[in-house]
Amino acid sequence: MNFYILTLFPEMVMDGLRTSIIGRAAETGLLHLEAINIRDYSDNKHHKVDDYPYGGGAGMLMQAQPVYGAYQSVIERIGRKPRCIYATPQGRAFTQKDAKDFAQEPDLILLCGHYEGIDERVLEEVATDYISIGDYVLTGGELPAMVMVDAISRMVPGVLGNQESGSFESFEGNLLEYPQYSRPEEWHGKKVPDVLLSGHHKNIETWRRQQSILRTKERRPDLLAQAGLTAKEQEWLKGV
Ligand code: ADE
Repeated sequence: MNFYILTLFPEMVMDGLRTSIIGRAAETGLLHLEAINIRDYSDNKHHKVDDYPYGGGAGMLMQAQPVYGAYQSVIERIGRKPRCIYATPQGRAFTQKDAKDFAQEPDLILLCGHYEGIDERVLEEVATDYISIGDYVLTGGELPAMVMVDAISRMVPGVLGNQESGSFESFEGNLLEYPQYSRPEEWHGKKVPDVLLSGHHKNIETWRRQQSILRTKERRPDLLAQAGLTAKEQEWLKGV
């Protein structure tokens, strides 16, 4: 899968993505990660990319021309018009479902804004998806782009090794993941739950499912309504 990240800070994005699992997948060619410096496409002799907003107001806006130039350079090179995600707190919330859906795309462009945002006219022409990573405001779209590239990439087949691709993850079926334990059997006086040492797979499965339900109820009750619990599980939950 090919990612093209349009940004004023290409080193920040590439440095953040070069490590660990995503870095390895890029090295083996499963992923192509490319940051395009918007400033390189400014037609201004000083490579200026921002200006004051019409109508007044605080801060500077990224101008349409260099953003469009950077976008066009990708489109012309690859000969296609992929989906283009604009990272913005005004977008819809990014979810695990989005990560899975975007992972089906052969190419994806991510557009990172800075300063007070980007001239609306170029967004109208290039952005296909307006996406936020949460209800808070960051200084730029680079961290959100990195978050999205990470979450999408791990859904691309082969990016996670067998060791890393668990059969169950948080948000699967709208439940959070159950608690996990490794060696030693006792640490700080806390024992690993007996069932996990029992070797009884059916009981372990039941215990994990129940722990997922309890954890979701406690930490993310908003998710539980969509978790599709069986009648038996709902009955059990009333009793705990
Ligand atoms: N840019 C600034 N804040 C953001 C957020 N919360 N999500 C996506 N892009 C952003």
